[in-house]
Amino acid sequence: MVYTSYGSYGFGRVLELLKSHRSEYISGQDLSDVLKISRVAVWKHIRRIRSLGYAVESRQKLGYRLVGQTRLPLPWEITEGLDTEWIGKRITYFDEIGSTQEYALRIAADAGENGAVIVARRQTDGRGRADRAWISPDGGAWLSVIIRPGPDFCLTGLFPLAAAVALAESMEDVMGVGAELKWPNDVLVDGRKAAGILTDVSLTSDRVDHMVLGAGINIDVEPREIEGRIGGRGVYSLTSSDGADGAALVRAFLGRLEDAYGALASGRQDDIRDRWTARSHTVGREVEIETDGGTASGRAVGIDSDGALLLSDGRSTRRVVAGDVR
Ligand code: BTN
Repeated sequence: MVYTSYGSYGFGRVLELLKSHRSEYISGQDLSDVLKISRVAVWKHIRRIRSLGYAVESRQKLGYRLVGQTRLPLPWEITEGLDTEWIGKRITYFDEIGSTQEYALRIAADAGENGAVIVARRQTDGRGRADRAWISPDGGAWLSVIIRPGPDFCLTGLFPLAAAVALAESMEDVMGVGAELKWPNDVLVDGRKAAGILTDVSLTSDRVDHMVLGAGINIDVEPREIEGRIGGRGVYSLTSSDGADGAALVRAFLGRLEDAYGALASGRQDDIRDRWTARSHTVGREVEIETDGGTASGRAVGIDSDGALLLSDGRSTRRVVAGDVR
């Protein structure tokens, strides 16, 4: 199924009523009278609501009562309380898709709007950095955001790092975990990878036409199921609980992403670099980096103004623009 944040669904009105009567039962007859639909239609809507992961209790003579929240990143759950100006105004949710990134790239090329978000329950052909497969089973939050920068935006190198900062901060806010960053933009919890960021940039002859920012966040997934995608180096899965689920995390992330983008667009790159460095799991360590041109090694001493990693061998400092830290 596909749902959008702007579509209207028959079950949506039933869900709204159940939510607004949280601790009380509403009878099937009352739902039918208020919504002017048949009892059979009420029952079908309840069935659909349950299939979306909400727990609805039904009691003879009393009616229905919502007793548990869904853990799916459904668009209306993400937008409830979303405090952004332009990111997430249109959210499209897929139960299953090849890749939210490929879908977003297609619609972005076809004038897809700034800030549109594509989110999926699972992906069958998810893509990670360096074209690696990104296994994306049920449970995680797999999303892509379309961004159309203004004509002066030229900080594409720092943008993925800014997004990683936004994601780490949201994970801390919502899930209460300590999150670190591994260059360039992996989010680690307990030293293991809990989320990854992927950015695709589409250029015209003289400027960035659009970027698609993809984020894969492991929530309620079985680490062994996805371990292969990062070469067995360790996966961390966040655990959802009441109020700390995929939708809450995506909502927080979209808010922080908009702020982080705003910081870069208004010249506050140092703020992003400082926040990235403060959480860095890489800076201050001896590292080896696999790059296209071979292995670079040295002590990571910081990041440059464009997001490149600065490596020192004690005598000189070199820049590494892309690669995988070992
Ligand atoms: C990485 O390799 O660390 C980046 C992973 C990014 C995965 C996300 S999941 C949502 C979006 N769709 C994709 O196919 N990839 C990105």
